[in-house]
Amino acid sequence: MWPYPRILAHRGGGKLAPENTIAALRCGLEHGFRAVEFDVMLARDGVPVVLHDPFLGRTVAGSGNVFDYDAAELQAMDAGAWFASRFAGEPVPLFAEVVDFCRAHGIWMNIEIKPAPGFERETGSVVAGATGAMFSDGVGVPLLSSFSETALAAARDAAPELPRAVLFDAVPPDWQARAAALGAVAIHCNHSRLDGATAAAIKAAGFGLFCYTVNNPARARALFAMGVDGLCTDRLDLIAPDFA
Ligand code: G3P
Ligand code: MG
Repeated sequence: MWPYPRILAHRGGGKLAPENTIAALRCGLEHGFRAVEFDVMLARDGVPVVLHDPFLGRTVAGSGNVFDYDAAELQAMDAGAWFASRFAGEPVPLFAEVVDFCRAHGIWMNIEIKPAPGFERETGSVVAGATGAMFSDGVGVPLLSSFSETALAAARDAAPELPRAVLFDAVPPDWQARAAALGAVAIHCNHSRLDGATAAAIKAAGFGLFCYTVNNPARARALFAMGVDGLCTDRLDLIAPDFA
């Protein structure tokens, strides 16, 4: 039901490095992490890049929407200085660069498809198609997830062989029908909105159950006791890959 690592570094390196960058992945490696979650959206030219926000200004110096820029322009922008001066010049990475880095270092991936509003189908299709092509050897196949069920449906159509998970904030009452419609293997949800009865129902129905973003070790222990299979954390220093 969950053939994946139990503890993932959220956005590559959690809160210890600039999110969704190669520097974040290096930070994760330094903390022993060989499993990550990160966010993928499309640049103007349709090339997938690793970013969380659909606009510049928080983690990337600049202004406007991500889809106002080609991938090469985004690659030249600074995604590290906002976090700390020692990360100044850290680029926005292409999705393909992040996958290459992860594969080279044996890092398993939960790829969150994060479409800008209005680009749900295109983003799901492109990200899944690219992922399917990069993992055609079947080694270390990632898990795709998204809050956008439209993006997940497009991902299913583009690369039906890739496993998918539906992301919810609070798990809705009709979660099982929605997951089944998408052929999803797992439910991902906000740990703070999850109760024991819902966790038990998800596990009894045979789905994987994964929570974001857990930064308190006592809460992580309680979630695993409820039957949660895996979680991502921002606190790589508090919740280690071998956390039990
Ligand atoms: O994939 C889990 C988690 O990353 C979802 O929320 O906003 O951090 O992408 P967010
Ligand atoms: Mg995410």
